Amino acid sequence: MLRVSGLTASYGSSQVLFGMELSVGAGEVATLMGRNGMGKTTTIKSILGLVAAAGGSIAFEGVELVGMPPHRIARSGIALVPEGRQVFPTLTVHENLIATAANRFGRADAWTVERVHALFPRLAERAGNLARNLSGGEQQMLAIGRALMTNPKLLILDEATEGLAPLVRQEIWDCLARLKTEGQAILVVDKNVAALAKLADRHHVIEKGRLVWAGTSADLLADPGLKERYLGV
Ligand SMILES: Nc1ncnc2c1ncn2[C@@H]1O[C@H](COP(=O)(O)OP(=O)(O)OP(=O)(O)O)[C@@H](O)[C@H]1O
Ligand SMILES: [Mg+2]
Repeated sequence: MLRVSGLTASYGSSQVLFGMELSVGAGEVATLMGRNGMGKTTTIKSILGLVAAAGGSIAFEGVELVGMPPHRIARSGIALVPEGRQVFPTLTVHENLIATAANRFGRADAWTVERVHALFPRLAERAGNLARNLSGGEQQMLAIGRALMTNPKLLILDEATEGLAPLVRQEIWDCLARLKTEGQAILVVDKNVAALAKLADRHHVIEKGRLVWAGTSADLLADPGLKERYLGV
């Protein structure tokens, strides 16, 4: 479904990605892991067209995304839950959910506000509240709900559990597991190896802008030294 190959990207004169590789299959949950500052968010932003790729290829369902403007990439069926959540602070929960909603591919089982409420009952209780008044966990749920309302073929989450209380984190992991059983393709950037090993099919580890390891959850758990080497945990 998504294949990133040879991706290079820079901020001004400072190069951050040096031939990054990554792939996500249809209906698959894949991860991107790595220490702080290794280029995870830059990889994600390049996929979304928010950082211009200097070289390489990002193919989504066979279509080249490099050079395509961000709105067209979003329309092709990729939704991002960005680092730091970034919900619309002065809109209500309900307004956030419907603001960018779309069913571009005519899905019969399209996401509705009711379905999002069933996934995150807290959002139903908070429907009329301004997003800026939500807790961090509730904002994260809203960011995920808003992304789902675009009926994406591929959902990408950048550090969705960062800074959240353990119970709320678990709620996010449970939500992603449920989406997986429904066949949603997901790319997860996170640092929680144990939760990721349980959830995902395949993993990628990035170091200094390059893919340094890729494998299954079984491979990941079989190599405890990997965590120390590349993840610093
Ligand atoms: N807008 C920017 N301008 C200049 N340099 C940047 C910018 N954003 C990120 N960088 C640099 O690029 C490198 C990779 O950053 P990136 O945000 O992709 O890392 P990350 O793996 O997502 O890290 P984290 O785990 O902290 O989120 C870092 O050295 C960072 O300082
Ligand atoms: Mg990041």
